[in-house]
Amino acid sequence: MDNLQKAHPFLKWAGGKRKLMPQIDAYLPAALKNGRLQRYIEPFVGSGALFFYIAQTYPLKEYFINDVNSELIMAYKTIQSEVESLIDCLTAIESSYLPLDETARKAFYYKTRAQFNQLGAELDLASFQPQWVTRTAQLIFLNRTCYNGLFRVNSKGGFNVPFGRYKNPTICHADNLRVVARVLQGVWIENGRYETFSQHVNDQTFVYFDPPYRPLSQTANFTAYTNNTFGDVEQLKLADFYHQLNSVGAKLMLSNSDPQNIDPADTFFEGAYANFRIERIQASRRINSRANKRGIVNELLIMNY
Ligand SMILES: C[S@@+](CC[C@H](N)C(=O)[O-])C[C@H]1O[C@@H](n2cnc3c(N)ncnc32)[C@H](O)[C@@H]1O
Repeated sequence: MDNLQKAHPFLKWAGGKRKLMPQIDAYLPAALKNGRLQRYIEPFVGSGALFFYIAQTYPLKEYFINDVNSELIMAYKTIQSEVESLIDCLTAIESSYLPLDETARKAFYYKTRAQFNQLGAELDLASFQPQWVTRTAQLIFLNRTCYNGLFRVNSKGGFNVPFGRYKNPTICHADNLRVVARVLQGVWIENGRYETFSQHVNDQTFVYFDPPYRPLSQTANFTAYTNNTFGDVEQLKLADFYHQLNSVGAKLMLSNSDPQNIDPADTFFEGAYANFRIERIQASRRINSRANKRGIVNELLIMNY
């Protein structure tokens, strides 16, 4: 496969790992690279950068991806089973939107956002409905044209990100969607909490955890993916889960923020993952609530191998 034919994440997602892939690759388990593992599980899949990378670089027999965000999982399932209808729908949106001037684009954006939020209240996200195609197309459109390109819902579950100004956004990346659909064939796609995956983990499994990051400061908006919070109590429960899977003999890798970027004395993760290997990699991230302020920060990779 040449580079153009490789599937990439189809959404921009907070905490996306795409740019970190070369650094993460260096820490993947040798057993994965040597073809000695069978199963890949990503319980906090988000936009799935590592899933797509592994599926196309070190192919395994079985893949399980999961996220608690039901809109996101609806989008994965729609691409898996209805990619051509989705492409038709997105192409129609794109050809209505792109010729408009900025004022008309803004009106189109807010109308689509209102339709998206209204349909959301009525739609069954548990089993496939034909309206999933329209809704996934709207989700991708909003993700490509909203301010900062993030998917964020408010406490009532509404998508509330304002309009973003982009000169010529690609709304329908048909080639990428088709290869994404191909990679997703045969993949188990679930919508639940991460704990439900323990039953699928065995000693032939590699699990990559990319949970909502522990915020570096009160103002950091790292955790604004969905309306549920993932505080220190949740981080510690996840550490217990990691210990539990370690005893099954699975290979485990977990990403998180490095508190020592701000406070060198903060040993939260050294405590929670004592006896595991903790490495630091460098990421360019938004470092506070001001949208465009980015900086190089360390992130943690915690491994049991
Ligand atoms: C850091 S993001 C994942 C980033 C992703 N790996 C990427 O490359 O874009 C964290 C994800 O965890 C999901 N999430 C939050 N709480 C969860 C839970 N309790 N169980 C499963 N997923 C959860 C969020 O919806 C979000 O998509």
